[in-house]
Amino acid sequence: MPGDKSISHRALLFGALADGAVEARGLGRGGDNLSTAAALRALGVEIVLAGDEARVQGVGFAGLTAAAGALDCGNSGTTIRLLMGLLAGRPFETELVGDASLTRRPMRRVAEPLRRMGATVEGRVDPARPGDVFPPLRVRGGALVGISYDLPVASAQLKSALVLAGLQARGASTLREPGRSRDHTERMLRAMGAPIAVDAGSGAVIVDPDGWNGRLRAVPIVIPGDLSSATFMFVAAATVAGSDVIVENVGLNPTRAGALDVLAAMGADIDITPAGDAMGEPVGAVRVRASRLRGTHVAGELALRSLDEIPALAVAAALAEGDTVFSDLAELRVKESDRIVAVARELRRAGVAVEERPDGFVVTGLGGRAPAGGTVQPEHDHRIAMAGAVMGLSAGDETVVPAADIATSFPGFADTLAALGAPI
Ligand code: S3P
Repeated sequence: MPGDKSISHRALLFGALADGAVEARGLGRGGDNLSTAAALRALGVEIVLAGDEARVQGVGFAGLTAAAGALDCGNSGTTIRLLMGLLAGRPFETELVGDASLTRRPMRRVAEPLRRMGATVEGRVDPARPGDVFPPLRVRGGALVGISYDLPVASAQLKSALVLAGLQARGASTLREPGRSRDHTERMLRAMGAPIAVDAGSGAVIVDPDGWNGRLRAVPIVIPGDLSSATFMFVAAATVAGSDVIVENVGLNPTRAGALDVLAAMGADIDITPAGDAMGEPVGAVRVRASRLRGTHVAGELALRSLDEIPALAVAAALAEGDTVFSDLAELRVKESDRIVAVARELRRAGVAVEERPDGFVVTGLGGRAPAGGTVQPEHDHRIAMAGAVMGLSAGDETVVPAADIATSFPGFADTLAALGAPI
């Protein structure tokens, strides 16, 4: 699999803040990660990319310089939101822009606490969605003070932005989430010597920079394969008769790996072989063989731990026996597309009954009947495109997938499926 997208963003960003050169291996080369690399270069950081290796010449927070123009974050929510936190403490102004999809995504959740900490954040307002702010954004850094904050949503992008701001602040910050979002930031920053701790009981993240020298340790970074990309292969393997697929060296971080639990609950034939860890991130091999799937219920912390995998899991549900209920997933409405609308649209096109709900949907599986083909409408959402392709493997007729957006996270998607023998 390509390198984990979330971890690759962090390797580039945190590498830029190190006290020397950081070598990263296994970097994701999708459009989102390239957006982060380009933004950092525009802020004066030297980055050499060669294949899946990166060499980032760390400059520390203080070494970042004002960009000559707007930073284009492309399709990447992680890029724009983590940069907001980073730039909140820098003594210059930066404009952050993105593509049509990113320009519709809500940024108040990040802007509001950063303003409280002392930064100036301005953005586009939309009369149809009052109270929020959207890209293009302008961030003018200030002298930050720490914050004690209850995050209104469990979001690793928000949490990470506030950690980056907190590291530049005077005084400690305590960040409490309503649920435990992916913790790649905490793991990598701790490995680089940042003054950050996680309260074992409450899960609160505590950043205490007083007395810290402000520089991260330049350590080599090894990035595991992307579990989100792998989930499309797992669902393909579970649903196409006769399949037997092994994905090696894939990230198994439990705050991220809910999809494996969901597939197991659906009766998928899955074997997981742990293979140690890379910079605090557990990795291993996952083998999936085709089997009959049954409906299940995805809610609560399981929903949070499978957030990005819901489009793939919805395909598994569509091909399973019985109903699958997806709930507690209102955040899907503000991803690269409104994924509740998009999944419902694509499943219905394939002849699958879906009941849409405010925070999810209920899928009535075809239970052995073939879905219909047709043309997928990804609407700038890479995961909707890949889910449509995986559904197409089981369809009775042809499925056409506009593929341009897939390169956001998984440029080799079609080649990988073809190499597994898929008629693509
Ligand atoms: C990500 C966090 C999640 C996830 C996104 C990547 C990250 O977003 O959906 O694909 O790398 O921190 P939220 O923080 O909005 O939940």
